Amino acid sequence: MINTGSFLNQLKVRKEYVERCLMEFLPPASTYPPLIHEAMHYAVFNGGKRLRPIMVFEGAVLGGADKEQVIPAACALELIHSYSLVHDDLPAMDNDEMRRGKPTCHIVYGEANAILTGDALLTAAFELLAENARVARVKAENLLRAIQTVAMAAGSRGMIGGQVLDLQSEGVELDFSTLEKLHSLKTGQLFRAALTTGAILSGMEEAGIAALDEYAKSFGMAFQITDDILDVTGNQDLIGKPLGSDEKNHKSTYVSLLGMDQSCRLAQDAVESCLKALNYFGPEADFLRELASYTLNRQN
Ligand code: IPE
Ligand code: IPE
Ligand code: MG
Ligand code: MG
Ligand code: MG
Repeated sequence: MINTGSFLNQLKVRKEYVERCLMEFLPPASTYPPLIHEAMHYAVFNGGKRLRPIMVFEGAVLGGADKEQVIPAACALELIHSYSLVHDDLPAMDNDEMRRGKPTCHIVYGEANAILTGDALLTAAFELLAENARVARVKAENLLRAIQTVAMAAGSRGMIGGQVLDLQSEGVELDFSTLEKLHSLKTGQLFRAALTTGAILSGMEEAGIAALDEYAKSFGMAFQITDDILDVTGNQDLIGKPLGSDEKNHKSTYVSLLGMDQSCRLAQDAVESCLKALNYFGPEADFLRELASYTLNRQN
């Protein structure tokens, strides 16, 4: 039986750790030229759940490493995610004005600066991945593999590919398998890269990395279905972004294609798949087990 109170506390402790790491590894807001560094801070320090860096740390620890060995890599995953949100909210994309409970980056800094803020965060992420070699003892071959994994996941065959499908699908009724592909690319790929990056850097054996990859694939599915559900039924104050964004943009979502009940069932099935993938591990993976169940009931 899961003790939700203790899990939420563990999640909070991990999130606070990520916040401290990000503060240490992002160039200070006063760095010249201050405008872009302030905007980068604005886009990063704003109440995100920090699930991707938490996964980097979890993958590393499961592989027998210390958290300290993967701090820059963990930060890098959050910077890529934060950049993707800045661009996702732009008028040319989802045109949303609130994110993480605050006006979106382009509302505060203007569209051109928001585009550049996203560019700067993405670039800084790869600087940090390389930086991981300087601050911690990790094998060069593992670091190179991790960098390639993250680049692939963030790029045209990963998250960007998913975002392109998402835009192409506006106003179009997708078939189920295309919708599944869209979700797995735009959201699943970065979770997979996060968890496997930690595992790869720790030197985990291939079967363990494959199990974590399976977990993250299903986690991404459950997570994005829940995101689509929350866009309809969520509490705006808690999710910190506008409700109804998908309907406004005529997006193809699980909810629009299959309705609420079936979407909830599919999200549950995805969580079951997460748990199955973790059979490779013992109780040391309990945090990930609880994280999968939590994502179904999350309110933000
Ligand atoms: C939102 O991600 C975008 C999706 C991929 C669904 P999160 O829900 O993880 O956003 P933050 O980082 O907590 O704000
Ligand atoms: C965005 O999906 C996924 C990204 C790669 C940023 P959404 O457009 O559904 O994310 P939200 O709902 O705006 O956070
Ligand atoms: Mg979007
Ligand atoms: Mg959006
Ligand atoms: Mg959404």
